Amino acid sequence: MEKTLSIIKPDGVGRGLIGEVIKRLENSDMKIIAMKMLKMSRKQAQGFYAVHKERPFFDSLTDFMSSGTVVVMVLEGENVISRYRDLMGATNYKEAEEGTIRRDFATDIERNVVHGSDSQKSASFEIGYFFNSFEIINR
Ligand code: CMP
Repeated sequence: MEKTLSIIKPDGVGRGLIGEVIKRLENSDMKIIAMKMLKMSRKQAQGFYAVHKERPFFDSLTDFMSSGTVVVMVLEGENVISRYRDLMGATNYKEAEEGTIRRDFATDIERNVVHGSDSQKSASFEIGYFFNSFEIINR
C-alpha cells in the first residue's frame, strides 16, 4: 500500500469544492487516513514548495497557497500516487483529460484546485510536513 499527500488548494476550498474532490477520491477507492484544515503562512508555503524555489512562479505560487484555507489529506491505496495524479489531471488544466478534477474545475495553471505528491520521495517529505505519526490512521 502506498501513501500520498493531497491538498485542496485555497481556490478549491473557497469555491466550495471540498465535497466534490473528496467524493471523487472516495469513489476511486482511495482511503483518507489523515485530514486537517489549515491556513499556511507564507514561510510554511515556501518550505512546502522548496523544490520550486528557483522557478519564476515560486513567489506567486507561495503567496496563493498562503492566501486562504486548505484541506490536507493523506491518501492510501495501491499505486495511489499515480492514480491520484490521474484523477487530478495535468498541472495545466488546458492539457488535462476530460473528467479530471483540474479539467472540470481549474481556472488557471496556478489556481488548479488540488495538489498531489509526484513521487514516493516527495510523498514522504510532504506527508511529514503536515502530519506526525499519531495523526495518521494505521489500518
Ligand atoms: P502543484 O501540483 O501544486 O505543484 C506546483 C504548482 O506550481 C503547480 O501545482 C501549479 O499550481 C503551480 N504553477 C504555477 N505556474 C506554473 C507553471 N508555469 N508550471 C508548473 N506549475 C506552475
